[in-house]
Amino acid sequence: MNFSQDTIIGVVGSGAMGTGIAQVAALAGHKVVLSDANENALGKAKANLASTMLRLQEKGKINNAEEILNRISYTPFAQPLTGFADCGLVIEAVIERLDVKHNVFSNLESVVKDDCILASNTSSLSITSIASICSKPGRVMGLHFFNPAPLMALVEVIPAIQTNTDLVPLAMELMGKWGKTPVIAKDTPGFIVNRIARPFYGEAIRIYEEGIADMATIDWAMTEIGGFRMGPFTLMDYIGHDVNYVVTETVFQAFFYDPRYKPSFSQKRLFEAGWLGRKTGRGFYNYADGAVMPQANKDIVLGTEIFERILAMLINEAAEALYLNVASAGDLETAMTKGVNYPKGLLEWCNEWGTDKCLEKLDSLYHQYHEDRYRASILLRKQDAGNKKIV
Ligand SMILES: NC(=O)c1ccc[n+]([C@@H]2O[C@H](COP(=O)([O-])OP(=O)(O)OC[C@H]3O[C@@H](n4cnc5c(N)ncnc54)[C@H](O)[C@@H]3O)[C@@H](O)[C@H]2O)c1
Repeated sequence: MNFSQDTIIGVVGSGAMGTGIAQVAALAGHKVVLSDANENALGKAKANLASTMLRLQEKGKINNAEEILNRISYTPFAQPLTGFADCGLVIEAVIERLDVKHNVFSNLESVVKDDCILASNTSSLSITSIASICSKPGRVMGLHFFNPAPLMALVEVIPAIQTNTDLVPLAMELMGKWGKTPVIAKDTPGFIVNRIARPFYGEAIRIYEEGIADMATIDWAMTEIGGFRMGPFTLMDYIGHDVNYVVTETVFQAFFYDPRYKPSFSQKRLFEAGWLGRKTGRGFYNYADGAVMPQANKDIVLGTEIFERILAMLINEAAEALYLNVASAGDLETAMTKGVNYPKGLLEWCNEWGTDKCLEKLDSLYHQYHEDRYRASILLRKQDAGNKKIV
């Protein structure tokens, strides 16, 4: 099996991610078959892709919009399933439910050729459990794109324990040809980014729930003092609580309820109320016309305390992921800088701070709260004891 520009790419699910992935593959020169169970969603995807290509042409970024659009065909994901027989790779991007994904993979397996690779874009489900439904689980892997797929460079390549090992270099090469920056992640909950980034949201909410600071102040601390592009509350509202809360809950459950990943009631209530963030006009913040945005308390001492608390938790996650071989040090750094645009890799940040400062922050939280949530990674302790950098 080899991928080339002649490989026909199937994409199942024509929502935000599927449409973006179809665009990336068509721009890279492939014929694409885009499919969805909902005909309206498919129609919307077609219209969106047409207007995106025209916009790119008007901006001078491409000069063959029509040719690219003609490479994409649309087929309903309904019986009898057609259009996938010649695909060499099918990427699934349907809703984040294991039963729905199982259904899609078993339907796909009944129509694709023997050497067609099947990939899932799942954010937080186990690739191994998705592959388990297939009669040929060796051809199943994770290809996790980030939103918006055409703009975000990172792709996490995730082999399941059943995946044929020769698929990984093939997928890495293909993603490179698509202009992406691939990294390899172990099939563990949240892979790299959705695992390591959890405290960016969770610890920020904890600080807010405890009344240490309000949302605007925490957002200000992380952007102005920390240099992050968006504060946690602004970012959660942007991602949408239907996505961000659900990933948090899934990761928490998948980690056998490790308190480090515990979801919050504040965000759960937003999710329950349908206050999903920007897309519904209300989330942590109110985006209605005329609504007054809260102002930050720009106290530098308070801001630094907030930033350092959240950063220590993020560094701890990165150290633990490195210790448990979730990915190589280089891939961990690439993932956080390219997947969520962190201003710096967390291991590099750890080296700048020194393991002693990271441990001091974490241990002080641990002693204050007596909660397992604040336990420091053994890697930080080992390196600190040996007077060594984290990498
Ligand atoms: N949105 C993100 O930020 C993001 C980022 C990375 C990965 N993901 C993952 O990508 C996947 C898709 O997410 P999304 O944001 O594009 O969702 P979405 O809700 O925008 O789109 C999902 C699409 O799947 C279709 N669908 C549902 N059931 C189907 C079925 N049985 N057969 C065929 N089509 C079906 C729906 O009609 C819908 O068009 C999820 O697994 C999600 O976790 C999302």
